[in-house]
Amino acid sequence: TLSASSPLRERDLVVVSNREPYVHSRTGDGIAVERSAGGLTTALDPVLRRLGGTWVAWGSGDADAAVADDGTVRVPPAEPAYDLERVFLAESTVEDYYYGYSNSTLWPLCHGDLGRIRSEPSHWPAYERANERFADAVVGSVEGDVDEGGAAPIVWIQDYHFALLPDRLRSRSGLPDAATIAQFWHVPWPSPDAVRVSPHARELLEGLLGNDLLGFHLPAYRRNFLETVDRLLPGASVDREAGIVRFEGSGSSETERTRVYARPIGIDVSSVRRAEPIEEPSSVFEAYDLDPARSLLLGVERLDYAKGIRERLRAFEHLLETEPRWRESVTHLMVAGPTRERIPEYRRYQRRVREQVAAINDRFGTDDWTPVRHVDAAVDWERLLALYRAADALVVSSRRDGLNLVAMEYVAANAGGTGTLVLSELAGASEILEGAIEINPYDVAGTAAAIDRALSLEIDEGDEADEADEADDPDEAQERLESLWESVRRHDVGEWVRSFDREVTALATDAGARGDAGAG
Ligand code: G6P
Repeated sequence: TLSASSPLRERDLVVVSNREPYVHSRTGDGIAVERSAGGLTTALDPVLRRLGGTWVAWGSGDADAAVADDGTVRVPPAEPAYDLERVFLAESTVEDYYYGYSNSTLWPLCHGDLGRIRSEPSHWPAYERANERFADAVVGSVEGDVDEGGAAPIVWIQDYHFALLPDRLRSRSGLPDAATIAQFWHVPWPSPDAVRVSPHARELLEGLLGNDLLGFHLPAYRRNFLETVDRLLPGASVDREAGIVRFEGSGSSETERTRVYARPIGIDVSSVRRAEPIEEPSSVFEAYDLDPARSLLLGVERLDYAKGIRERLRAFEHLLETEPRWRESVTHLMVAGPTRERIPEYRRYQRRVREQVAAINDRFGTDDWTPVRHVDAAVDWERLLALYRAADALVVSSRRDGLNLVAMEYVAANAGGTGTLVLSELAGASEILEGAIEINPYDVAGTAAAIDRALSLEIDEGDEADEADEADDPDEAQERLESLWESVRRHDVGEWVRSFDREVTALATDAGARGDAGAG
């Protein structure tokens, strides 16, 4: 719930993201609509459903699968509540903007994996082009309302696909001066030294400083950003304490002021709690042909090098090597579907993961036991919930991760029950979740030991008869889960939206200060 005078309630909201919340396709018998998975949709769809507004996103479905004449679609299909404005991009632009600059430069750059950056001369111009196209779409979507005398809109841009969009929007005449331009950056912001490798560092920063408000998950990302601006952008003045950057944008004579804040997104706790799995946990054992007598170690992620899947597989193999008692008594079920496959770096990684799985299974597998089961596709939400509940432990082994919502979903799905979380200390989520067994995924033996510990805790927990014999605190698993659950609840996605609302309010109250700054 937002307060009665909240800006989000009173003003039109335009959300911009690369992924669309609902994908419309033409089929033989009409239009099929599929809801996108992913944290961003889960977080923002309920907000727009409640408040109405417009969501501008890359149209990845069929252009003619629309209901209105202007190509706009109202979503969700069952209870239309807001407009989805799809931006259709030429195939070559998708190639160079999405697979290219966004995911072959910015993704590895922000995740500190500089050796994986692949740069082609066509990438950057396409990124600029796509950001221009989105600026057109945003302006087009607010124009009518503003002409009719409506309040100035709030444009809330999501993620690294749109570093240039804020500044492009600023320089468009179609957007009223009083509009608020804000952005949330869902991936890490790296150190200035990492950003420096980009020949476009300056343009990226100038683009982002077109925002009135810029959000990151963690104080560390915010600090990195402020330091990056301070070091790499001459002419910018940075107040690190207050998180304020003043910069004389190239496009305008006025000094722009950007407020930078940190607040992690979370999950919609109540929807996970409310969801009753259609499937009983026991049915997932059947579905994947698993023996319920064995421990189940779960991993859930896209097949992305940032997720540290190969490091984890090495650790799991090391566990089987060094602790033979786990042979035939644990299965690692890995739900990891392909992603961004048109990028060679991803294809190579995905092939290596599959090879590694096969090698481990070859080495240790027996007639009735496959050590690693790789589900090479995304699974639907119901199935995922059942898997979360069936698993003894979930392992998140990211080499780097903006936050990681899977860890939070696992906790919420198991609250009040059992389940242990093994979590990479290099995932942003480790900053806010208390109670996980933490790992450094580059530490093979340490990760193996953490998995061993997590699975042992769960065995102890289930084995009440042995309780008296245990040297360890028999309640450790339960205590860990309880404290994790408390941190997950504290970071409900509703809190993330309310904090955004408060930040927008704060912008409005220091509008006077803004005028002073502008005169400088
Ligand atoms: C990350 C990004 C999101 C993105 C998601 C899936 O979480 O922060 O913006 O949507 O990955 O990646 P994809 O490239 O499939 O959209």
